[in-house]
Amino acid sequence: MSALAQTRERDGNGWQNPSHRGAGYIGSHTYLALKQAGYEVVILDNFGNAQADVPDRLAQLTNAPVTCITGDVRNGALLDQVFADHDIVAVVHFAALKSVGDSMKMPLTYLESNLGGLLTLLAAMERAGCRRLVFSSSATVYGLPDQTPTPETAPRQAMNPYGKSKILGEEVLEHLVATDPSWAFGILRYFNPAGAHGSGLLGENPKDTPSNLMPFVAKVALGELPLVQVFGNDYPTPDGTGVRDYIHVEDLAHGHVLSLSALIADGKSHLVNLGTGQGHSVLEIIAAYSDACGQDLPFEIAPRRPGDVPVYCAETEKAKELLGFSTRKSLADMCQSSWTWVQNAATR
Ligand code: WQD
Repeated sequence: MSALAQTRERDGNGWQNPSHRGAGYIGSHTYLALKQAGYEVVILDNFGNAQADVPDRLAQLTNAPVTCITGDVRNGALLDQVFADHDIVAVVHFAALKSVGDSMKMPLTYLESNLGGLLTLLAAMERAGCRRLVFSSSATVYGLPDQTPTPETAPRQAMNPYGKSKILGEEVLEHLVATDPSWAFGILRYFNPAGAHGSGLLGENPKDTPSNLMPFVAKVALGELPLVQVFGNDYPTPDGTGVRDYIHVEDLAHGHVLSLSALIADGKSHLVNLGTGQGHSVLEIIAAYSDACGQDLPFEIAPRRPGDVPVYCAETEKAKELLGFSTRKSLADMCQSSWTWVQNAATR
């Protein structure tokens, strides 16, 4: 799922500035950030993990029509048509499966979807003469990091097929640009996206029971789930529960715009973490969400979840140095915006 965009006017070197596709959680927020930055945007999405009415809400939020094409990034002929119909010079690529647990059950599906999709997209981009790509990667590539905060130089280690598919994606891009410097890639390693758009009209809306913490806590706050299961309280962390670097989805979207704009401006590849540099434990998340929703949310301590690591936290200096990126939203903002969104979504 990605959106392609063009500027309203040609830039200096006569190139239209397209960029990015997406009607999913992060893609839709990045769509808004791109529009705010002056880009025209065309969305391509198979809606496998996005709600059908997201384009309508994007139109409402931008007060402008949304061009949205339903299709799959693995359909090369469709991609050729999109590139033929729109003057595209860069793409931000979100389309991938992202559940660690699911990837353990269907490793080939994850490799075919995540890596196959990337390769099909790159081939279509090459045919269209489009050589700029921002790639959604993940802190999951660090596996079990022996250094936190974790810098981009930390070794990659696959702990599951999802993480492997992201590592292979990064390696494909690194190999491609090393052999053909006409390409330029922005590889963005997300930590834990959370929160929702301040309008209350966009947010994370998993179709089934969420595996990620924040959306699960949100459903407990709504009364749709009875309590939060805390997966282990015997980790080597201050309160024994898992620590993660939660980043507001609007900050994450802003990071994509900075990455895209840098690629278009200087054509130099970059690989950066997108996180806050600050970790919060599971119990801290439950407490923060309790404050946001005004209820003491129930939880119980459960066994550790297989594959979990004690701490993921981003070293953030490189994103600041290369892109001028820094986060602006707090954990309270993430919880408050999530709570507003899920209440709206429940009534929709
Ligand atoms: C966070 C913490 C759990 C649920 C996810 C995605 C991964 C990647 C990064 C995209 C951990 C604990 C969770 C629950 C809990 N996303 N937890 N009870 O595991 O860091 O990774 O974000 O690239 O694909 O899986 O995030 O939200 O699942 O877990 O105690 O019901 O919350 O143990 O410590 P994670 P998460």
